[in-house]
Amino acid sequence: MSTPTRRKFLRQLGGTAALFTGGTMGAMAMDEEKIHVLQPEKRHLSNDKIRVAGIGMGIMGFGDMETALKIPGVEIAGVCDLYQGHLDRAKELWGKDLYTTRDFRELLQRKDIDAVIIATPDHWHDHISIAAMKAGKHVYCEKPMVQHLEEGHAVIKTQKETGKVFIVGSQGVSSITLAEAKRRIKAGDIGEINLVEAVNDRFSSTGAWQYAIPLDANPTTVDWDAFLGDAPKRPYDANRFFRWRNYKDYGTGVAGDLFIHLISAVHHAMDSYGPTRVFSSGQLSYWKDGRDVPDVLAAVMDYPKTDTHTAFQMTLRVNFADGSGGSNRTRIVGSEGVIEWGGNRFTLKKQKLPKAESLGGYDSYLHFAEPQKSEYIMWYNEKYTKEDRKSFAPEEIKFAAPIGYDDRVDHFANFFQAIRSGGMVVEDASFGLRAAGPALASNLSYEKKQIVNWDPVAMKLLK
Ligand SMILES: NC(=O)c1ccc[n+]([C@@H]2O[C@H](COP(=O)([O-])OP(=O)(O)OC[C@H]3O[C@@H](n4cnc5c(N)ncnc54)[C@H](O)[C@@H]3O)[C@@H](O)[C@H]2O)c1
Repeated sequence: MSTPTRRKFLRQLGGTAALFTGGTMGAMAMDEEKIHVLQPEKRHLSNDKIRVAGIGMGIMGFGDMETALKIPGVEIAGVCDLYQGHLDRAKELWGKDLYTTRDFRELLQRKDIDAVIIATPDHWHDHISIAAMKAGKHVYCEKPMVQHLEEGHAVIKTQKETGKVFIVGSQGVSSITLAEAKRRIKAGDIGEINLVEAVNDRFSSTGAWQYAIPLDANPTTVDWDAFLGDAPKRPYDANRFFRWRNYKDYGTGVAGDLFIHLISAVHHAMDSYGPTRVFSSGQLSYWKDGRDVPDVLAAVMDYPKTDTHTAFQMTLRVNFADGSGGSNRTRIVGSEGVIEWGGNRFTLKKQKLPKAESLGGYDSYLHFAEPQKSEYIMWYNEKYTKEDRKSFAPEEIKFAAPIGYDDRVDHFANFFQAIRSGGMVVEDASFGLRAAGPALASNLSYEKKQIVNWDPVAMKLLK
């Protein structure tokens, strides 16, 4: 990590600097000596060729594949999707000879594929992950690892039995900024963590998952029966196919879609297995387009004290009709400071309470009779030394990834490095279930209107 001056920082960040300093963090006083531009590790080494195929080529499937192909030595071996237009698009991008299919089972039988990226809707994650590992493929599976809590252990078991590399796609855990935040937390820079709060409010139709439905979508261009899988049978419905997040049968609501990123990041930063109690509450407030999941949801999670962290509370909230224009912010709060985090940058603010109790201001002392006041001052001066009364000036340090940094590249690098060297992945199947657990427990709590008790070590719901 370099510790550049402000001028060097601005040069490295380029256009982002204006955005950065103009945002919520920009309102703070800028300390020129304390802006750090973090540098990614040089670990994108190429040796063996790895042939990778995409299963589920929608928004994330294309993004993931394009990212994976940035790692030297990685080649595309084919794609699978249930909408013909996405297969056609893949051929536009990667050539007319690209192997394409609507049947993932057929793709998994091919010997020229080493690894697959699974970016289907959530209800397919466990089935395809298990089938892929059993077919001898390494798996990069998008988050959440599973749609239902009870599906998680079968994925963990299959990974152990097959020995294949399996990583879950919450790419934020591979971010160099999260790594730095983790170092700062572990070093005690913000004291003992007592609260993590995150808000992910949105104000757009795509933000509320109303994605475009292609005009050529029909039961011929879409394999509807295959899409349904283990979900209840029903007639073809383009809304459900292209906007699957809005329905419990295929998605996991805002908790599985959005809370999970923060839960994953916090588990990584704090070396935490997860909370023991989860409560959530919400409503369907604005997007009454037929969806059966809430568009406003808040969750409170209690993380108990463990060997790696103090007890803290995590609160998460999503509002898809935030008339203030939306906002995305996360705060990790400790007894001696806070980390305010957004994108691949964060601000660390440090301050410390003096040892001595406060004197003056809004206090009952004001209304003591004069003799009592004098006596109190004498007592106070005897009890607290000058050092005890010293207040600490708040300190602020900003950290940012360099312009153009993409944590997905580091996440894929971690995946491919584990395949090449047999190393560990940052987000294995147990990590994936421990992140999915509290997110899916939020949905359960919302539905049952009850506190849900969760065993984060055994990864099981408790009565
Ligand atoms: N890591 C992240 O930041 C991030 C961001 C967005 C989405 N995601 C995750 O990626 C996954 C996909 O999300 P998306 O936004 O790309 O959805 P999407 O609807 O754009 O794409 C899903 C694709 O899967 C295909 N599909 C459905 N069932 C299939 C099956 N059985 N076999 C093959 N293909 C199938 C669909 O035809 C569609 O093209 C979700 O699990 C989502 O949570 C992760």
